[in-house]
Amino acid sequence: MPKAVIVGVGTTRFGRHPDVHFTHLAAEAIESALTDANMDFRQIQQAFCSRVYLPASTGARVMEVMGRTGISCPDVEGACGGAVAGLRQATMMVESGQCDIVLAFGVEKIGKGFMPPDVLYDEWQYMMGMSQNPQYWALNARRHMHEYGTTEEQIGRVAVKAKRNGVLNPNAFFRKAMTLEEIMASPRVVDPLRLYMLCSPVDGAAAAIVCNAKIAHRYSSKAVEIAACIHKVSQFPLLNASSYCASETGNATVYATTSRLAYETAGLGPEDIDVAEVQDNDAFSEIEYYEELGLCPKGEGGRLIDEGVTEIGGQLPVNPSGGLQAKGEPLGASHYGQIHEIVSQIRGDANARQVAGAQVGLAQVFGAWGHCGVTILKPSW
Ligand code: COA
Repeated sequence: MPKAVIVGVGTTRFGRHPDVHFTHLAAEAIESALTDANMDFRQIQQAFCSRVYLPASTGARVMEVMGRTGISCPDVEGACGGAVAGLRQATMMVESGQCDIVLAFGVEKIGKGFMPPDVLYDEWQYMMGMSQNPQYWALNARRHMHEYGTTEEQIGRVAVKAKRNGVLNPNAFFRKAMTLEEIMASPRVVDPLRLYMLCSPVDGAAAAIVCNAKIAHRYSSKAVEIAACIHKVSQFPLLNASSYCASETGNATVYATTSRLAYETAGLGPEDIDVAEVQDNDAFSEIEYYEELGLCPKGEGGRLIDEGVTEIGGQLPVNPSGGLQAKGEPLGASHYGQIHEIVSQIRGDANARQVAGAQVGLAQVFGAWGHCGVTILKPSW
């Protein structure tokens, strides 16, 4: 079976782009990935586009801007997990030998404030007053605090780390460091989560070019191998509650299924990970995912942040990009933004955010209705 590697990555700045049409936003990220791969768009044999709030056939519309070469480019939708689902399709097409070069990209344009709930929630949830994502994240956080003694300060410290790392990332939306006091004084959105502990919905696009390893030397001397790219949907989706609450009832959690399968596929374990990007929609989620990815035992996520383990200079840096809390989240492009960071880290191109000796990197996303994704990358050279 051919191995799939990434030969090019590209991203726009995540943030507000009111005057740029979404097709042009996507094109900017794609052009940047093509330049990175020393490649022309005509060499792309297949493409996959991920988006959530953009209109039908977003991918086909982007192809029109890129030059109408007639290749297939379906939309792959999976809430915040849409991009990992698209990357998996691209990986499988290369591994199955159907294509040698596949473009996988995501794009989103979304206004500020709470996300429009009609796309994600059912009517009964509006009636119950439970149709905003942070409400579910807060339930997760409170339960963890109750069971394991996780504190609001620990959650706040995750946000402090995110803002500090975001200062170093030219593509992040928020690039201002904040003290714990500033984070803890920001308005409470839903107990225990405060404004500066949440990711803002933003516009942005990011792309990756997946290639057959046998011909990758034509495009990059530092092709990054896709050691695993797994996407699953929870067996018993709990609305927008992420995996923690659901895990107790046998839900297909990140740790129980997706990450374990990713580690098995890659032939690696949590102890091999040098750097990770995780879905920190809210600061508590990062603590949850330390545990669910097996980076520490259950209940000890708070300790990792207290001990500085997940800082850029720590033993296991997490979200050196600043994560979604600093970058903001353009849903369809979210995982490709993580891939951009992990590829940069593995190549040693992450500048001030560089994690010393980063070889094996992991990116994880979780989307509404139980979309779970984990990608593990390592050098191919
Ligand atoms: N860090 C730093 N500053 C932040 C911030 C953060 N995490 N969040 C908001 N701010 C700033 C804003 O930039 C704004 O500053 P300005 O007045 O100078 O422009 C100010 O705080 C007021 O915030 P607001 O404009 O209301 O922010 P927002 O558009 O991000 O809305 C929420 C706040 C909580 C409603 C929104 O962030 C939210 O719903 N987040 C969750 C998104 C989501 O569900 N994503 C998941 C997909 S499954």
